[in-house]
Amino acid sequence: MQIDTLIIGAGAAGMMCAAHAGGQSGKRVVVVDHAKAPGEKIRISGGGRCNFTNMYCDPQAFISHNPHFAKSALARYTQWDFIDLIDRHGIAWHEKTLGQLFCDGSAKQIVAMLTGMMADAGVTLHLQTSVTHVAKSDRGFAVSLQTPDGALQIQARQLVLASGGKSIPKMGATGLAYDIARRFGLPVTDTRPGLVPFTFAEGRFVPLAGVAAPSRMVADGPAFDEAVLFTHRGLSGPAVLQVSSYWREGDPVTLNLDPDDTIAPALRAQRQHYGRRNLTTELATHLPSRLVEFMKDDWALTGNLADQSDTRIDALVDRIQNWQLMPSGTEGYRTAEVTLGGIDTDALSSKTMQAKDVPGLYVIGEAVDVTGWLGGYNFQWAWASGMAAARAI
Ligand code: FDA
Repeated sequence: MQIDTLIIGAGAAGMMCAAHAGGQSGKRVVVVDHAKAPGEKIRISGGGRCNFTNMYCDPQAFISHNPHFAKSALARYTQWDFIDLIDRHGIAWHEKTLGQLFCDGSAKQIVAMLTGMMADAGVTLHLQTSVTHVAKSDRGFAVSLQTPDGALQIQARQLVLASGGKSIPKMGATGLAYDIARRFGLPVTDTRPGLVPFTFAEGRFVPLAGVAAPSRMVADGPAFDEAVLFTHRGLSGPAVLQVSSYWREGDPVTLNLDPDDTIAPALRAQRQHYGRRNLTTELATHLPSRLVEFMKDDWALTGNLADQSDTRIDALVDRIQNWQLMPSGTEGYRTAEVTLGGIDTDALSSKTMQAKDVPGLYVIGEAVDVTGWLGGYNFQWAWASGMAAARAI
């Protein structure tokens, strides 16, 4: 079968690209995916409500070996363009926090919008279809597929790799895009799990499992002011997921449990009036009581407020604000929301996402070495990079 464009992967980026590339002057666009349904990560994202973009989307919120690469696509298809798209499809939404936008109803509305747009554009979608062979041919790319109805040979003028990264293999994530890219000589940077909880040795935080607190966290990157959650296995919560993308094995992370600097002035003020109050009783008005109990044992906190000199208060607050923790690892691709690294941006045009040395080959979405922060940034990259390719093909 001879077609114009074959897109591998019916996820966020692949469907966005197909919906806009199809419909252009009778172009024949085919999308293949080995899953039973398209857009499975969209469906489960944001607790079923899909955090589909972020109002404050900015290139700084993306990690890549080339921090400038994402700028062009993000500028040419912005968060406001996607908001406009879902408004036109009557999908109601709200801001949860920090500019993060979610559907009021269900993430399935976004999947339905994209599949509907693909159908309107005359795109053919083959599900439960695996790619068995890809080669360059005179007319573009020769791709062998195994569909539920048997083998299918496709000749496509353009091939778009949109099969995502390695996170959550149980949901069908594979390294297919990386393998095909390598076969065509495109370099792939080291990949590792991102937006992923930390694990700690010896069940360090088991007594704290379930405790959440506001925090500021830093690894080797920007500080994030979001909640931390202690778990049976270690640490999770938005602050932890954010810094995990900047963390390297063997590095410590710094946890600040008093990001607003309120504890030291409060301890000093209360010491004047309630000197006989227990230090931990007062601390428990600022921090979760189970956390204070844990610190009492772990840090040997003793005495009344009157026993706390200014130096002792400063030392204690310094500890609360600069708690150095050494993760033993992360939960890995099993639970990571994204894959850091990927197909090297040096090999791609930032305007079109086309491989510089392989005309007709495009890479979009998570397969590219561009990873966003938590908060809708990764979908915005999928929409923007998908659109960049759609405009070019
Ligand atoms: P995506 O993974 O969406 O699609 C790839 C497609 O390729 C899949 O349909 C897959 O089945 C198919 N495929 C893979 N290998 C194949 C093969 N060998 N053969 C055929 N097909 C193959 N981001 C965000 O911005 N807001 C959020 O709320 C969330 N929430 C979230 C929750 C969870 C649990 C996860 C795991 C991830 C998120 N994310 C997120 C991240 C977001 O889901 C992710 O960045 C995008 O889905 C990436 O879009 P892509 O289209 O590149 O890949």
